[in-house]
Amino acid sequence: MVKKLFIPGPVNVAPEVFAAMSQPMIGHRMKEYAELHGRIKTSLKRLMMTESRVFLATSSAFGAMEGALRNLVKGRCANFCNGAFSDKWHDVTLRCGKEADAVKVPWGQPITAELVDATLATGKYDSMTMIHNETSTGVLSPLAEIAAVMRNYPDVMFIVDTVSSMSAMPIGLDELGIDCCIFGVQKAFALPPGLAIFTATEKALQRAQSVENRGYYFDFMEFAANDDKDNTPSTPCISLIYGLDCQLQRFFAEGLEARWERHRVMAERTRSWVLERGFELFAPEGARSVTLTSVANSRGVDLAAIKKQLGEKGYAFDDGYGKIKGKTFRIAHMGDLQPAELEEFLTVLDGELKG
Ligand SMILES: Cc1ncc(COP(=O)(O)O)c(C=O)c1O
Repeated sequence: MVKKLFIPGPVNVAPEVFAAMSQPMIGHRMKEYAELHGRIKTSLKRLMMTESRVFLATSSAFGAMEGALRNLVKGRCANFCNGAFSDKWHDVTLRCGKEADAVKVPWGQPITAELVDATLATGKYDSMTMIHNETSTGVLSPLAEIAAVMRNYPDVMFIVDTVSSMSAMPIGLDELGIDCCIFGVQKAFALPPGLAIFTATEKALQRAQSVENRGYYFDFMEFAANDDKDNTPSTPCISLIYGLDCQLQRFFAEGLEARWERHRVMAERTRSWVLERGFELFAPEGARSVTLTSVANSRGVDLAAIKKQLGEKGYAFDDGYGKIKGKTFRIAHMGDLQPAELEEFLTVLDGELKG
C-alpha cells in the first residue's frame, strides 16, 4: 500500500517533481548540465540570501556534514548537542579523527546564545557545529541570537545544519554570517533523498585550504574548482538535480513568504490540536519547530498500536526517535504539505485515539 507520509522525512514528493526527474539523461560534462547547475545555484543563492559558494553533493546530509568537519576543523571543534542528530554529529567529528567536545543540553531544549558564548569564550575552539532544527526533538534553536554572538568569534567556523528548516522559514546566510550551511533535500525541500546542498564562504575555503586530510569526495577545494565551471567533482545525481530545478521553480511560484506562512499556520494548527487533545508539547515555547511538532505522550497512549493502525489506513506515523521513542511522537508538517492534508491526517489520528 502506498502510504501518505506524515513522518519527518522523507516526505511526499509532488508528481511534477517526479516527472521532471524522468527527463532524458545528459552527461555532467556537457554544456546542458552546466546550464542546469548554474541556474540552480542562482536560485539557491536567492533562497538562502547569500553570496557564498553553493555546492551540490550526491549523498545524504551526513556526507556533507562529515565533509564540513574534515575541511573546516583544524584545531578543536565545539559540537553543540541537543538531540539525536547533533549527538551523532559529535560522534562523526571524533570518527574523523578531530579533537572535539560535545556541549550538551537536555533533549527537548534549544542551544542558547549564552551557552555558545560561554563555550567559545574559553578560546579552545576554531569551529562549532549546531543543528538549527533538531528533527529528533522538534526543537528550533535561536539562530539569529547565536549568530549575533558568533560575530565576536570571527576565527571560529560557524557550521550549521538546516536539514529540516531550510525553505520553511527565512534563513539569510550572509546576514547571519554562517560559514557553512548544510542540508539534505528529503525533508523541508520535499525531494527524494540522495542530494545534499552545502555552502562555503571565502573564509571557509581559506580554512579548508590549510587543513590536511580532507579526503577527496567532500574536498571543498575540489568543489570550488568545479564550481567555477558550474560543475561537480564527480558524477552527480542528475535526475534528482532535475527534480531540484523543478522544485526551486515551484518554491518561487508559491512565493517564499507564502511558503513560510504556510508552515507557520500548519505548526500553529498542530500545536493547538495537541493541547486540545490533552497532550503536551515537548519543546518549550519559543523553541518550537515550524516543520514538525514533537508531542510528549503525556496521555500514555500505545503509540506502536496507533502507528500500526494508521499504517493499515495508508498513513505513515512517527512514534518518536531514539531514546524518546514511545515517550514522544512527531507530526511532520514540512515540504509541500498543505493545511487540508494535515487536517485530514489529524482527523484520522483522532479516530484512532478515540478507538
Ligand atoms: C537535522 C538533521 N540532520 C541530519 C540528518 C541526517 O540526514 P541524512 O540521513 O540525510 O544523512 C537528519 C535526518 O533526519 C536530520 O533531521
